[in-house]
Parts: sequence; C-alpha cells; structure tokens
Amino acid sequence: MAGGESGMKSYDIGVLGGDGIGPEVMREGLKVLEATAEVEGFKYELVEYPYDSEHYLKTGELVPDSVIDEWRTLDAFLLGAIGHPDVEPGLVERAVILGLRFGLDLYINLRPIKLYAEHLCPLKGKGPEDVDFIVVRENTEGMYSQIGGHLKKNTPDEVALVNGVYTWKGCERASRYAFELARKRAGEKGPEHEPKVTLVDKANAIRPQDIWTRAFASVAKDYPNVATDHAYVDACCMWMIKNPEWFDVIVTTNLFGDIITDLASMLQGGMGIAASGNIHPGKTSMFEPIHGSAPKHAGKNIACPLGMVGAIQMMLDYLGETSAASRIDAAVGNLLTSGTVPSADARSGIGTSEMGDMVVARVRGD
Ligand code: IPM
Ligand code: MG
Repeated sequence: MAGGESGMKSYDIGVLGGDGIGPEVMREGLKVLEATAEVEGFKYELVEYPYDSEHYLKTGELVPDSVIDEWRTLDAFLLGAIGHPDVEPGLVERAVILGLRFGLDLYINLRPIKLYAEHLCPLKGKGPEDVDFIVVRENTEGMYSQIGGHLKKNTPDEVALVNGVYTWKGCERASRYAFELARKRAGEKGPEHEPKVTLVDKANAIRPQDIWTRAFASVAKDYPNVATDHAYVDACCMWMIKNPEWFDVIVTTNLFGDIITDLASMLQGGMGIAASGNIHPGKTSMFEPIHGSAPKHAGKNIACPLGMVGAIQMMLDYLGETSAASRIDAAVGNLLTSGTVPSADARSGIGTSEMGDMVVARVRGD
C-alpha cells in the first residue's frame, strides 16, 4: 500500500473473475468499488490474473508458485468463482482457491450471516433481529489438508484415505479470532447484546476433535465477558433453522464451516448474497462470494451480484476503510428493504448489471 500524490491511501488489489458467473458478478462488484472509492476518497490499482478454467483448458497452466509469491505482496485479492464443467472437478478450485487459502495461510474464513429484510428469509416468523450471526471457519486444515490418497485405485481392493488434520495452533488461533470478534461485535451492538461464541464440532463421534474442545476452553479463559456454547454439527443445523437468534459467533472446522454456511446463507436470503473473507490478520487476504461459478446461469445477466458486493465490503472493512464498508452495507440494506428485490437467491429476479447499478446509485446517495 502506498500513499498517492494527494496523500490518499492507495491499495493494490488482485482480481480473478474466474469461471461461469464469476466475471459478471465481479464486474458489478468493481462498479460498486469504483463508486465507493470516489465518494469516500481512496485509490486502488487492480491487478488482473488469468488463472481460470478457460485459461487451463487453453494452456494447461495452473497458478504457478511464483504468482502465489506475487499475491503475497498485494494488499488484498478479489475472487469471483471457480468451477468449469469441462475440467476435472476440483482441479482449478484447488489451484486457485486452496492455493490462496493455503499459500497465503489465510487461516480464517469469515462468513457473516445477516438478514437485511424479512421477506428474503424462508423461515416463518423470523426477521432481521433473529438472523445476525457470523461463522469463523478454520480455513487451512481439517479434511481439506490434502493429506491422503488412493491405494490400488480402480481395482476391487481400492482404498481411499483422507486425513482430518487439527493442530493446536490451528484450533487456538481460530478460537482466538472468534472471541476477539465476539468482543468487537459487542462493542458495536451496545450493552443489550450478549456476546457468545459457539464451538461447532463432532467430537462425540470423531474423538480426536476434542483438540478443538480443549483449545477453545483454554482461549475462553482470556475472555470472561464472552459466553461460550457448544453444538455438535448435526444439532447446529437443526438450531440454525429452529432458533437462529441463539447464534452470535460460531467457530468450527474447515469442512463443517463449508457445509453449515451454505445452509446459513439461505437464512439471509440465499447464495446470491453470501460473502466471505479468507483472512490472515495483518497480511494479504482474499475476499469472495460463497457461491460457485453456476455455469447454467452464466452469460445471461441473471446472477445476483450481492455476494460479490458483500465480499468487497468485507475487503474494505479489512483494509481499514470502515466508512466505505458501512456505506456499502447501508446501500445494500436500503435496496433490500425497499421491496424492489424479490429474492437474494442465485437468481434474484433482477438483472445482474441492473442490480449493480441500483447499489451504485445508493452508494452515491442518488
Ligand atoms: C467454499 C467452496 C469451496 C470450499 C470449494 C469450491 C473448494 O465450497 O468456498 O465454500 O469447499 O471451501
Ligand atoms: Mg462451500
């Protein structure tokens, strides 16, 4: 990050629109970023990268290690979506998404679940005051460790092994992040709000996951004013539907975080609005919508760009542009409570670029 000639802050931001609807939602997100920067007074340079699935199909090239090194020198990274029907499942996803997460040690995957308007929520009788929690997903270990493989592949004796890796360091730092976040949210929400962190695991059936239980308990001692709770992941899914208002901050493993945040995203309106930050505090972090590339919706101007807009909001908050982040939050809130947006699902019922324009108008205060 460098100060511009005017002393204005300037950020170097890596951009990879990716596959399917990725480039379309990215375009709208960048429109919102541009408008916000103008109004709020900061600058940025975009550095575009080509490593999507089309690039792989054309050249056979995945992200080179030297490029991952380059990514570490940026201020932040924006990713649209990766996933292409003509490429072996997970190949480019692992190179780009896991390349960023593991390569930059982005050990937190932060996924806010916030309902802006009651009509977007599929639950009966639940409104914005009931759905406002945040999931801290451990992002570099667990079942995503890539440690494992096959024996006697494609024979009747085939064996497939995958190791769930949980380190004390990984459980400790994710738990600490969750408690710090609970404290921060309490500061923002005022004295009525009771901060709470819920650990979600499956330590009854998967006994070694009690490393989470112990690491969580040891961190909790440092936060006497934050309540603690625990739910096994199956029960967590049930409570999320029955009583979403019970959750404040959830901390969980990589795989469980992946699964419960797809479920949770429906509470806030759908995959069209769910955003995430892949974060290593103090270092280059990556921001992306939770949804995938949705090839069937690509190129039709129907995909909802609000998840990408939310990712940009999270990026600005992370970079310390908190007023800019609040401006986007208010713009999206205003739009969604205006009643003009029928849904926040993958297809919102409003054109991708029209939705981008609607957010931009509100960011500018038109
Ligand atoms: C997500 C996605 C990824 C994940 C895939 C695309 C590898 O589902 O970000 O939630 O499993 O983490
Ligand atoms: Mg997922």
